[in-house]
Amino acid sequence: MKSLPKKSKFLVRILTVSTIVLSLAATDASAQDGEAKFKSTCGSCHSIGGGKRVGPDLQGIGERRKEDWLINFIKHPQQMIDSDPDAKTMAAEFLPVVMPDQPLTDDEIKAILGYINGGAATATAEPEVPARATADATKEEIDFGRQLFTGVASFEEGGASCISCHNVNYKDVVPGGLLAKDLTEAWSRVGEDAGLMGILGSPAFPAMQQAYADHKLSEKEIFALTAFLNKVNSDKANQVATMNPLHYGGIAGIVIVFASIFLVWNKRKRSGVKHDILNRQIRSK
Ligand code: HEC
Ligand code: HEC
Repeated sequence: MKSLPKKSKFLVRILTVSTIVLSLAATDASAQDGEAKFKSTCGSCHSIGGGKRVGPDLQGIGERRKEDWLINFIKHPQQMIDSDPDAKTMAAEFLPVVMPDQPLTDDEIKAILGYINGGAATATAEPEVPARATADATKEEIDFGRQLFTGVASFEEGGASCISCHNVNYKDVVPGGLLAKDLTEAWSRVGEDAGLMGILGSPAFPAMQQAYADHKLSEKEIFALTAFLNKVNSDKANQVATMNPLHYGGIAGIVIVFASIFLVWNKRKRSGVKHDILNRQIRSK
């Protein structure tokens, strides 16, 4: 620096100071980004210290896994489960649910991991407790939940009924869809009221996201559905033992495949070249 005139020295100092201030501000912002991103994209499936939800509790994840591993896993869960024995063992417990790929940059993931490994542990140790517990739901509210689930009542914003994709084994409920996981015991599996209401408030599975993105569920509807699924979960006496849908999931898959082949084939045959020839022949008769 000895060759620099006084004025430049001063400038350099200002630059250094402002760089430090700026980088401090940036770290702070990315920690905040991490928190906001975690809450909006991971929080409906994961807690930090609040127990298992749809996916594992992420408290202390930075000690259990290397950063590279985490970045890879978060970007492509299925790919890692297929190729990495640790990922496979961990995921086995959550089957058939697989975490959807997260379209995030390395920096975004690092910010989220920073939040998980940092101050988050104390901040979200307790899941947010909903205003009212569904254990206190009235008979009418539980029944409204059943009607919404089965499509007897429709959602205010017109979303698809749950039964088109999910099944519950419960008295007076007709068998539901096999596209997604059986929900008979979902209430306890995904973290009771807080966990389930979180999922319904911002569904994070692609299929559900699509079904409800433009058809948000209201608080009243979420409460009723949660109350119904709490009832189904705890009222063991009225759970009906039907065949586990996963057993005939394979058959349903085959039926769907055949149905789609048939539809495609049928459409081709009707609108293809043959169709025109056929029309000509009919006309010329
Ligand atoms: C739709 C639900 C869902 C969302 C959203 C989701 N995850 Fe997951 N996550 C899972 C499931 C389920 C597993 C268990 C592995 C599997 O089956 O894919 C998992 C596993 C993980 C693991 C591995 C944990 C371990 O013990 O090795 C990490 C890390 C993780 N998720 C981080 C995230 C982060 C970060 C986000 C947000 C950017 C996120 N997840 C969003 C469902 C989800
Ligand atoms: C378009 C199909 C579709 C509709 C409609 C739908 N879901 Fe889902 N849901 C899914 C898929 C796919 C998953 C991801 C897990 C899987 O593959 O089974 C899922 C996951 C869930 C989970 C987490 C399951 C678990 O145990 O980890 C819950 C809870 C859930 N849905 C509740 C509901 C409720 C309540 C409704 C009605 C408001 C609903 N879903 C409507 C497709 C759907």
